[in-house]
Amino acid sequence: KAPALKESFKDDFLIGTAINEYQILEKDPKSAKILSEQFNAVTPENAMKAEEIHPEWNVYHFDVTDKLISYAKRNKMKVTGHTLVWHSQLPAFVHRMKSADSVRMFFNSHIQTVASRYRGKIDSWDVVNEALNEDGSMRTSIFYEKLGEDYVTDAFRLAQKFTPEARLYYNDYNIEQPAKRAGAIRLIKKIQAAGVRIDGVGIQGHWNIDNLPLKNIEDAISEFSALGLEVAFTELDISVLPTPFKSNEADVGKKARYAATLNPYTAGLPDSVQKKLADSYEKVFRIFLKHRDKISRVTVWGVADGVSWLNNWPIPGRTNYPLLFDREFAPKPAFYRLINLKKKN
Ligand code: G3I
Repeated sequence: KAPALKESFKDDFLIGTAINEYQILEKDPKSAKILSEQFNAVTPENAMKAEEIHPEWNVYHFDVTDKLISYAKRNKMKVTGHTLVWHSQLPAFVHRMKSADSVRMFFNSHIQTVASRYRGKIDSWDVVNEALNEDGSMRTSIFYEKLGEDYVTDAFRLAQKFTPEARLYYNDYNIEQPAKRAGAIRLIKKIQAAGVRIDGVGIQGHWNIDNLPLKNIEDAISEFSALGLEVAFTELDISVLPTPFKSNEADVGKKARYAATLNPYTAGLPDSVQKKLADSYEKVFRIFLKHRDKISRVTVWGVADGVSWLNNWPIPGRTNYPLLFDREFAPKPAFYRLINLKKKN
């Protein structure tokens, strides 16, 4: 039996993972076993996104989320709601909206309905997800265009009203990077200046073994906690594959041409790369442990390599190895590295 991450790090921070309905059903017992043995926090990977939970005006699909939450409660796991406001994975009816009034109506009613339904059941909420561009400016989105920048503060105000016991987080990727971090700090200060509560920042942590932003991670932890916030690493995975173009690059032909070189480890991960992945996990966890007093939770974005979103990004059909358990659900060297690191720290 593998040692348990949640036991090893129990005095430091929560250890979470992403959760889906199929994992807790009988048909995926290996995944369910790892879930219940290793983790004490879960984030629904997709079930609570507006597209899934609120597909039509006044139509809500709560059943999957209800199941995931009761699974988590049975297993004494904390639950993070993901997410109340996100420009992506919105239902089609929202994209059809023309007027600011209808967007406002959706925004208010969505937050009120979802937040109050899970009041007392969700421990922390990703209230707003990915509002920023890489340069720290506001991302163009239906919310920004129709409601203006204040939609961010408004979302926290509504969350505070309808789920007051939950910890309220701003969540984004690359906000350890200086320019985007500055944008996040500006938004946070604005929320605080409006007298609205924000409890934490979620740094997603979608990183790459060839480009670990170690110094920036440490600076970000310090700067966010200096604002009085707790810091969580909310979607950690470390890709072992090259990402030479952005996901939105239009040149599909180019992607296809490079597909072979972009998927070099289909026959299995070479030992050298396996080791580099373990080194990478150790390096980031060293930082997390050093700043354990400021960190509430570290969540990996998936239980095992086979289900990682990184097998489908930026082109589908890749074979990536970004997580702590392999495709056969066996713990990888990176897993043991973390267990051993903790023994010495
Ligand atoms: O469930 C539907 C299925 O009914 C449908 O037939 C099928 C056809 O496309 O799609 C299925 O939905 C997919 C869903 O994952 C569940 O598998 C979506 O297409 C697909 O886009 C979705 O991808 C998710 C992605 O967010 C977009 O929502 C990934 O699983 C999820 O890991 C990823 O997570 C995001 C975080 O929420 C925010 N931060 C970045 C992170 C990685 O992109």
